[in-house]
Amino acid sequence: MKPQLSRRRMLGLVGGVGAAAAVGATVPWLASSAETGRLLRSELPLPEPFRVPLRIPPVLTPTPDGATDRYDMTQRSATVEILPGVPTEIWGYDGQFPGPTIVSRGGRRTVVRHRNLLPAPTVVHLHGGHTPAASDGYPTDLLLPEGGADAGHHVASYPDPRASVVVGSREYEYPVLQRAATLWYHDHRMDFTGPGVWRGLAGFHLIRDAEEEALPLPAGEREIPLMIADRAFAADGSLRYPALDPSLLHQHGVETPYRQGVVGDVILVNGSPWPVLDVDAVRYRFRVLNASNTRRYRIALDPPPPDGSRLVQIGSDGGLLERPISHDSIEIAPAERFDLVVDFSSYPVGQAVTLFNRLGSGTTGHIMRFQVRRQAHDGSAIPERLSTMEVLRPEQAVTTRRFVFRSNLEHEWQINGRPFDPSRADATPRLGDVEIWRFTSDFHHPVHIHLVHFQVLRRGIEDPGPYDAGWKDTIDLRPAEQVEVITRFTDHKGRFVFHCHNLEHEDMAMMGNFEVV
Ligand code: C2O
Ligand code: CU
Repeated sequence: MKPQLSRRRMLGLVGGVGAAAAVGATVPWLASSAETGRLLRSELPLPEPFRVPLRIPPVLTPTPDGATDRYDMTQRSATVEILPGVPTEIWGYDGQFPGPTIVSRGGRRTVVRHRNLLPAPTVVHLHGGHTPAASDGYPTDLLLPEGGADAGHHVASYPDPRASVVVGSREYEYPVLQRAATLWYHDHRMDFTGPGVWRGLAGFHLIRDAEEEALPLPAGEREIPLMIADRAFAADGSLRYPALDPSLLHQHGVETPYRQGVVGDVILVNGSPWPVLDVDAVRYRFRVLNASNTRRYRIALDPPPPDGSRLVQIGSDGGLLERPISHDSIEIAPAERFDLVVDFSSYPVGQAVTLFNRLGSGTTGHIMRFQVRRQAHDGSAIPERLSTMEVLRPEQAVTTRRFVFRSNLEHEWQINGRPFDPSRADATPRLGDVEIWRFTSDFHHPVHIHLVHFQVLRRGIEDPGPYDAGWKDTIDLRPAEQVEVITRFTDHKGRFVFHCHNLEHEDMAMMGNFEVV
C-alpha cells in the first residue's frame, strides 16, 4: 500500500494524544467529529425513509441433544432486496442479513456447526461470549470454504503455528456459563473482518436465564432486537465498500482515504433501510446493537414521550444493570449493546415517533420510525431493582496494564506502537486474577476485549460516563481519552485477542493478544 505522506506527516507532527482532539476539527480526512471515519456515498437513488417494515430476524430452532442445543448454519452468498426493488448480493449466515438469531439458555451448552460455502475463508466470533479459546474465533483459526479454496495470502503473511485451520465446516462450542445478555456473532477473519461484516456476516445471539425471566419486562412481540448498521450501495445495487481486493482473498485493507474507517449513507435496521414498526401504546424492550464498522450514533426519540419518560436503559453489553438508568439520548459506538425500554403509552394513537441519530445529518440523521397504532393492555413494568452485580474494586487488582491506541508514523493503526502479531502475547493475565486495563486513544477507538466483561472505573479524571454502566465488553474511547476498566479473568486459559472494533482499524492491525495462563 502506498503511504499517504501528507497524512503520515500530519500524524507524526501532532501525534501527541493531547493534540489529537484539536486536529480532528481541521484535518480534511477526518470527515466528522462523530467518529474517526470517511463517508462513502451510494451511487443510486435512495428510498424515502420509513416505508419499509422492520423485519425481525428469525430465531433458529436447535436440535436438543442431552444438555446441549445443536445448531447448523451455512454461510453463503444470496441475493436479497435491501433497497426496495433493488437486488443486492450479500454474504450471510444461512444467506440472511442479519443472520438468524440464536437464543441460548444460561447453563445449557450451545454448539453451532458452521459450513462455509462462501468464496473466502471465515472465522466466527461470538461477541460477548465467555468462550473457551478453541471456539472463540481467533482471527487465524480459519474455516476454509468447502472444497478447500485458496486460503488467501494472510496465512503466509501471518505465520501462526498455533492456528487451527479447517476445511468446509467447524463446530463452535459455547458453554454459556454466563448471565442473560445480548450477544452477537460476526465474521472475525484476520485482515478481512470489515468487508466480511459489511457484506452481511453478523447476527444476534441472545442468552436468557431465570433471573431475567422473573422480571416483568416487556416480552414476546414486545421484545425486539435492533441491529443498526450503515452501508453504501453501488450503482448496480451491490454493497459498496472500498476494498483494495474485492475478492477478499489476497490483499487486505481499504483505499487510502478510508483507512480511518468506512461510514455509509444508508442506515439499516435489521437489514432494512430506515424501517418503520407499528407499535401498541405500551412498553417495548429494544435490544439495540451498533453493528456498524465505524459509525457512532447518538440515538434519541422525536418527539420525546409526552409524560417525560425517556430511553430507559436496563442492560448493557454484559446483561442487566442493577437499576434502570433514564437517558434523553444514548451514544453507541460500534459493537456496543444497549438494552432499552421505551414506553409509548403517553403518545396519542396515530403519533409517528422517529428514532433520531443526533450524530448524523441528512440521510444519516434518522434511523427508523415507530408508528403508534392502538391502545392495548400492558402488564409489563420496569422494576427498581433489576439484578445484582459484583462490583470490582481497584484494590483487588494485581496489576495495571497500559495500552495506547494510536496511529504511528507509518500510518498504521497500532497498540503500544506495535501492529498485531499472533506470536506475541501483549498481556499474560493469570487465571482468577483481577486486573486494571488502562486504554489511551488518539482518535475514536471502540475497544473490545474478548473472553471477559469488565466494569469502567474512570474516564479521564472523571467517574465513568453516562453510557458506561454495568458489565461491558466494548468501551467507547473518544479522541485523546484515557479510560480505565477492571476485570477478572476466569474459567478459560489460552490465547484471545483484544482490539479496536472500528473494523477498518482492526483489519489494519489494531489488535493485541492476551494469553490467560
Ligand atoms: Cu465483535 Cu473481536 O469482535
Ligand atoms: Cu480504532
